[in-house]
Amino acid sequence: MSTPGTRSRLFVALPLPDEVREPLAEYLSRCAELAPEQRWAPAGNLHLTLYFLGWVETDTMTRLVDALTEVRRPRFQLQLGGLGRFGTASRPRVLWVGVEVGREPLAALAAEVARVCHQVGVVGDDRPYNPHLTLCRVRSGTRLPALPEPVAPSAWEAGSFTLFESRTGPRGAVYAPLREYLLRSD
Ligand code: 2AM
Repeated sequence: MSTPGTRSRLFVALPLPDEVREPLAEYLSRCAELAPEQRWAPAGNLHLTLYFLGWVETDTMTRLVDALTEVRRPRFQLQLGGLGRFGTASRPRVLWVGVEVGREPLAALAAEVARVCHQVGVVGDDRPYNPHLTLCRVRSGTRLPALPEPVAPSAWEAGSFTLFESRTGPRGAVYAPLREYLLRSD
């Protein structure tokens, strides 16, 4: 059994550059006006998850922080796409933005991150990788109104990934970056 404070809830993700985050932040506030009862993601939390690890003991986390430096994937171009939904068309549970450009190198990076996590004994969410950026969690028993499409997102070069700790607080989860890892530029 672990004692409180000896483990952390972790995930590895790509942060978004400001030119991608800012238009999405505007889009989120427009949507929140149209559907204020829904749980819209805080713009500061937006990220593209590579691997969700869940709870990890502190000593394992220390090994993991070092082991992730072994990930030697190259930088790559990314561009977000249109809206997608988890759940059924009439009863969506989660509204998200997908990835239009860069799906293959993104999946290869996610697989490499998962492999390194497994190597240090961490088994996280090993469901097939489905890259998405969550915008909204739909409250059960409610419906989403018709929403506009987000503006066409800018492409960017993913140059690093980040190990995040998810801390739950009174105002929801706060994602604290623990360490950034550079992708290869050659
Ligand atoms: P989500 O947006 O679809 O919930 C931090 O919670 C990040 O890890 C989110 O991007 C979340 O995706 C992702 N994640 C993947 N699997 C998860 C799981 N089993 N529980 C919580 N978050 C998970």
